[in-house]
Amino acid sequence: MERTFVMVKPDGVQRGLIGEVISRLERKGLKIVAMKMLWIQEELAREHYMEHAEKPFFQALVDYITSGPVVAMVVEGKEAVKVVRTLIGATNPIEAAPGTVRGDFGMDIGRNVVHASDSLESAEREISLFFNADEIVDYSKSGEEWLYE
Ligand SMILES: Nc1ncnc2c1ncn2[C@@H]1O[C@H](COP(=O)(O)OP(=O)(O)OP(=O)(O)O)[C@@H](O)[C@H]1O
Ligand SMILES: [Mg+2]
Repeated sequence: MERTFVMVKPDGVQRGLIGEVISRLERKGLKIVAMKMLWIQEELAREHYMEHAEKPFFQALVDYITSGPVVAMVVEGKEAVKVVRTLIGATNPIEAAPGTVRGDFGMDIGRNVVHASDSLESAEREISLFFNADEIVDYSKSGEEWLYE
C-alpha cells in the first residue's frame, strides 16, 4: 500500500468543494488516514512548492496557496500516488479530462482546486511537512476484501 498527500486548495474550500473532493477519494476506494484544516503560512508554502522556486509563477503560487484555509489529507491505497493524480486530472483545468476534479471544477491553471503528490518521494516529503507521525491513523477499513483481490 502507498500513501500520498492530497490537499483541497483555498479556492476549493471557498467554493464548497471539500466534500466533493473527499467523496471522490472515498468512492474510488482510497482510505483517508489523516486529515486537517489549516491556513498555510508563507514559509510552509515556499517549502512545499520549493521545486518551483525559480519559476516565474512562484510568488503567485505562494500567494494563492496562502490566501485562505486548506484541507490537507493523507490517503492510502494500492498505487495511491498514481491513482490520485489520475483522479485530480491535468495541472491545467482547461486540459484536464472531464470526470477529473480539475476537469469538472476548474477554469484556470492558477486556481486548480486540489493538490496531490506527483511521486512517492514527494508524497513522503509532503506528508512529513504537514503531519506529525502521531496524526496518521492506522486502521483497517471494512470492505477491503471487495476492493482488492
Ligand atoms: N504555467 C503556470 N502558470 C501559473 N501557475 C502555474 C503554472 N504551472 C503551474 N502552476 C501552478 O503551480 C502549481 C504546481 O505546479 P505543478 O507543476 O507541480 O503541477 P501539479 O503537480 O499538477 O499541481 P500541484 O503540485 O499543485 O498538485 C499548479 O497546481 C498550479 O497552481
Ligand atoms: Mg506538483
